[in-house]
Amino acid sequence: MKKEIPLSVQAKFDRSFQTTGVKVISSTELYPALHLAGDAGLPLLVVENNLGRAVLALQGAHLMSFEPSGKREMLWVSPKSKLVAGVPIRGGIPLCLPWFGPSKDGSLQHGFGRIMPWSVVEDEACPDGSTRVVLELAGDASVCALWPHAFRFRLKVVVGSSLKLTLHAENQSATAAPFAFAFHTYFSVPDVAAALVSGLENTAYLDKMDNMARKAQQGDVTITAQTDRVYLDVPAVQTLKIATGNVEIESDAKCAVVWNCWTNDKNIGDIGEGNHTGYLCVERCDVAERAVTLAAGGGYRMSMTLSY
Ligand code: BG6
Repeated sequence: MKKEIPLSVQAKFDRSFQTTGVKVISSTELYPALHLAGDAGLPLLVVENNLGRAVLALQGAHLMSFEPSGKREMLWVSPKSKLVAGVPIRGGIPLCLPWFGPSKDGSLQHGFGRIMPWSVVEDEACPDGSTRVVLELAGDASVCALWPHAFRFRLKVVVGSSLKLTLHAENQSATAAPFAFAFHTYFSVPDVAAALVSGLENTAYLDKMDNMARKAQQGDVTITAQTDRVYLDVPAVQTLKIATGNVEIESDAKCAVVWNCWTNDKNIGDIGEGNHTGYLCVERCDVAERAVTLAAGGGYRMSMTLSY
């Protein structure tokens, strides 16, 4: 598995973008606090127009920031995250694929997609003022022994006054491939204990904090303890209700994971004691009982739109 992302790619990307407002810069420039002295940094794709601005790490095609013009930052990135090649970034929107949770042998959580270098394959200015970029990760069966299939994953990102993401996965091998996917979004919240999530009431969930017991959600979701739940067959829209302005989450995914580590943050080095208050993960996904099988030559597509 490739782990190194040479920063020399930066020059190449700078030359090839046709779209005004699209560029690659080093994470040492944008996130100096998330580096140790002498760190090489990660290449970050900045996509900016009159409607909004997004930043993605090419590692993992990982959204780090989204700010519609005149509005506050939507995503949380942990102050304890370290931006180092091959290490998952804590915060933003990790893409978990081609599996979710631990691998069968327990060695690799949430798939290899989030720690590998993706490439930018398209960029364009759209007539409505938004900007579209497409990132790709492709490889053969040797990329990951835990998932031995030739594949092509593509993430389409449309940055405007909302953020629209579409993940397309193709199994290019001759055998069927198990597949799960999550947009593992960390929303920035003023105080997680005061946040509410609507749009999950009356749906069934698997409670990871209670041995995957199946339960039914009563009313809005509130966070009062360590929370890790997989909601199944959810409505298209959830609303994250917070004092600084509600966020609407719309997707055709079947599931929603709600996760906050609460005071267990002290045991998670890249979150850190006290920092659980600043985020809530509401992840639209097809996981657990709703994971899929990609037939030989088959594909999967899922979209999510985030807006204030
Ligand atoms: C959530 C899972 O999606 O991700 C949790 O439901 C997990 O069980 C969390 O702890 C964070 O995972 P990671 O690998 O990024 O620490």
